[in-house]
Amino acid sequence: AGGVKVGGALRGRHVLVTSGPTHEPIDPVRYIANRSSGKQGHAIAAAAAAAGARVTLVSGPVNLPDPAGIAVHHVETARDMLAAVEAALPADAAVFAAAVADWRVAAEAGQKLKKDGNALAPLALTENPDILAGIARRAEGRPRLVVGFAAETQNVVAHAQAKLARKGCDWIVANDVSRDGGHQSGIPGGVMGADSNAVHLVSAAGVEHWPTASKAEIAQRLVARIAVALGPQES
Ligand code: CTP
Ligand code: CA
Repeated sequence: AGGVKVGGALRGRHVLVTSGPTHEPIDPVRYIANRSSGKQGHAIAAAAAAAGARVTLVSGPVNLPDPAGIAVHHVETARDMLAAVEAALPADAAVFAAAVADWRVAAEAGQKLKKDGNALAPLALTENPDILAGIARRAEGRPRLVVGFAAETQNVVAHAQAKLARKGCDWIVANDVSRDGGHQSGIPGGVMGADSNAVHLVSAAGVEHWPTASKAEIAQRLVARIAVALGPQES
């Protein structure tokens, strides 16, 4: 008691976390985004650091302070996030909590789009790279444990199981982001922006239903499970 704490279940490990939304520019003043607050991802990064890990947090635009003692890479777009994630490898575990925009406009306008002239500006969309799937399916340099999230508004577990298979990750942390599923916040978008969350941990081993808890508690629980999955550090 009273000594300096140097232990921690993740000491010596490198944990990579993505968090927040991405912003995909339409023109110099507009972008495509989503309601992700970054609270869950940032809480996971903080919990991993508290467990002794070296943490790299790749964050989209959020209104949150950088967690203390963590290397934070601030990015805007999905493509920037992918580049920052690749630059941060190797990692022992990677947790993809970011709500990456699925689409971006195919050709960003160099000037502000004007409503005069053409009746409606045509916004052709193209799909963003899937960062989680790209890392999980790597032949070389794959983190030993790859964890994805799934934000669903219906059939939460079934969709999460399909995602687990499709993306090739080890676990999916699934949550219900429907308005009534996200009873906490009372705002459209439900759990996004709220402080608590009820999740299901989906893996090849089965499905665990975790009770509603604060995002900090869920982060601690997930980090504890990551430490168990990685096993004791060989030294
Ligand atoms: N993800 C990612 N890159 C993307 C899209 C998603 O890394 N371009 C990651 C998210 O960080 C999350 C997981 O994939 O960990 C699932 O995200 P989700 O949006 O639920 O899945 P999608 O495959 O995009 O499917 P959909 O949005 O159609 O449900
Ligand atoms: Ca998506």
